[in-house]
Amino acid sequence: MAGRVEGKVAFITGAARGQGRSHALRLAEEGADIIAVDVCEAVPGTPYAGATPEDLAETVRQVEALDRRIVAEQADVRDLDRLHEVVSRGVAELGRLDIVVANAGIDILGSWRDITPQIMRDTIDINLIGVWNTVMASVEHLVDGGGGSVVMTSSANGLKAGPFNIAYNASKYGVVALMKSFAMELAKEKVRVNSVHPGAVDTPMAQGAMPMFDEFERENPDLTGMFTQWIPGVMPPREISNAVLFLASDESTWVTGSTYAVDGGLSSY
Ligand SMILES: NC(=O)c1ccc[n+]([C@@H]2O[C@H](COP(=O)([O-])OP(=O)(O)OC[C@H]3O[C@@H](n4cnc5c(N)ncnc54)[C@H](O)[C@@H]3O)[C@@H](O)[C@H]2O)c1
Repeated sequence: MAGRVEGKVAFITGAARGQGRSHALRLAEEGADIIAVDVCEAVPGTPYAGATPEDLAETVRQVEALDRRIVAEQADVRDLDRLHEVVSRGVAELGRLDIVVANAGIDILGSWRDITPQIMRDTIDINLIGVWNTVMASVEHLVDGGGGSVVMTSSANGLKAGPFNIAYNASKYGVVALMKSFAMELAKEKVRVNSVHPGAVDTPMAQGAMPMFDEFERENPDLTGMFTQWIPGVMPPREISNAVLFLASDESTWVTGSTYAVDGGLSSY
């Protein structure tokens, strides 16, 4: 039986680990080849360890174990020229591009007094301008190929701001504006653009942020109560990958400009 994205090629940012790796594997399981990038180093200020070149190599190994092809390069989503370079190489090698998953991101939590200009700039540069760069470096290939799907990773924080996350909230609401803007203009090219909005996902990012959030929660129960999931617990990344797969596939041909929450109800009230 043909896979749900059989014969397609997907460009995924932040693919060394966490949700990005999971998206690469889920799409590869369903027949896609992959172009993967990751910065493979810690971004200063993030309360968790950075991904490594070995992590990206492990993504390559796992995609190849599924008998799919992958072009993987170390690249920073803040560097538009570098993204152009990697995407061009990937398309030359794999023959086409159909799917773009702008997933790379960082989260630097803190109360409003702790958020520095540097944190604001780094977060907007990676989480928002990095998503714009990702689309700008790749979407022409989708247009040339007659259409495709772009999926941007926002967050439940991009639908309902979470406490102690000013820079992150601003960047993730910004992703929704990017998504809707690109969706409008690209519809006539048969390129669909949607955003996914994860709740807490079991990745190094959430593992690093949770202890800080627990501390804020103890000190500010009135605020953190507003940020409660109806389904308790922390999701495995595959839950988000299943949403990405649907949005990337031809099963969602009429879905564009939409915000797709996978958050156990967290953003719903
Ligand atoms: N984990 C959660 O609970 C959660 C919830 C909502 C949204 N998100 C979003 O999901 C996405 C994936 O995060 P994750 O949970 O897999 O975390 P993660 O930290 O495990 O993975 C993020 C990946 O992005 C890469 N990255 C960071 N900055 C980069 C840059 N400048 N250029 C290229 N790559 C870069 C990292 O190296 C890492 O491999 C992020 O956009 C994040 O904001 C995560």
